[in-house]
Amino acid sequence: MTVWLGTTLVAFVLIIVLLMIKQFFWNPRLKSVKNKHVVVTGGSSGIGKCVAIIAAKHGANITIIARDVQKLEAAKNEILHACENKDVQRVEYLSLDIGANYENVEKALTDLEKTMGPIYMLVNCAGTAICGKIEDTTVDSLDKMIHINLLGTYYCIKAVVQRMKASREGTIVLTSSQASFLGIFGYSAYCSTKFALRGLAESIAMELRPYNVSVTLALPPDTDTPGFAIEELSKPLETRLISQTSGLVRPDVVADKLFRDALAGNFFSTVGLEGFILASLCSGMSPFKSIGELLLQAFLMGLLRIVGAFYLISFDNIVLDCLRTRDKNKKSE
Ligand SMILES: *[C@@H]1O[C@H](CO)[C@@H](O)[C@H](O)[C@H]1NC(C)=O
Ligand SMILES: *[C@@H]1O[C@H](CO)[C@@H](O)[C@H](O)[C@H]1NC(C)=O
Repeated sequence: MTVWLGTTLVAFVLIIVLLMIKQFFWNPRLKSVKNKHVVVTGGSSGIGKCVAIIAAKHGANITIIARDVQKLEAAKNEILHACENKDVQRVEYLSLDIGANYENVEKALTDLEKTMGPIYMLVNCAGTAICGKIEDTTVDSLDKMIHINLLGTYYCIKAVVQRMKASREGTIVLTSSQASFLGIFGYSAYCSTKFALRGLAESIAMELRPYNVSVTLALPPDTDTPGFAIEELSKPLETRLISQTSGLVRPDVVADKLFRDALAGNFFSTVGLEGFILASLCSGMSPFKSIGELLLQAFLMGLLRIVGAFYLISFDNIVLDCLRTRDKNKKSE
């Protein structure tokens, strides 16, 4: 009986190890963006700018979209500098508020395709984060995040998708966050918009697969960007302590992983072990690319649920501790 149990256990562990090796070290055939048109929203800073630089190194024509012309101009020069072949590649920018009005976005992107060529890859990186408890979150902040994070992404995809479908090729990337795997103290508005992106990504992945258009949902952890510095200003203590359980990654690391996952046609693009664990735990009814990926998720899910429970308990304890400390300070005043 013990021999049988032992063998089963060893076989189980062996299968998981083999699947992980295949998942992490197997290089699938990647698509190429050489001579293709890549559009990056939020491309003037942070993860977006890093993605545009990587695409430039891969020989693509690039358009970055953001609002601030000065930042766009500076980013454009930086991206031009990274081009593989400066004589044939083009880098342009478009100053546009993508979340304000659908007709404007549609017109701008249609015109852009006329001057810069059909869009092969759309990378939605524009996003913003403002934290605060729900009672402290202004309706303005909520509106802003819905417009930039959700509507901006939805509008840009809606504006390009028909031509991608017609040409039977294309790649769409949505940048969500690890905060679309779990709700976190202080993120009621932010998480709402980032969870929404996951629903959007899963839906269009199903719509577009028959048309050879792939969809990738990037779920980066806290990333060291100008946006993150602004987010820090509004962060409640609880949120900061909970976020501290994971580190801060560099935007070029996130961009590099995002770009490779998009070219490989992977649905989830996560960074690091924590991202992998969250994606495996929360994969539920999400699309999968290979049987290997599916089996790995199926084997890990139950176990990870228990590991996750310990994290949830520790987060609840952080929230309680903060509350108690505040009460104590109030009394001693
Ligand atoms: C990229 O730009 C070059 C130079 O303007 C042009 O010849 C080429 O057709 C463009 N590629 C696409 C896909 O638009
Ligand atoms: C699918 O798209 C890729 C490029 O993204 C292209 O190389 C391939 O030929 C396309 N396949 C079909 C069946 O159209």
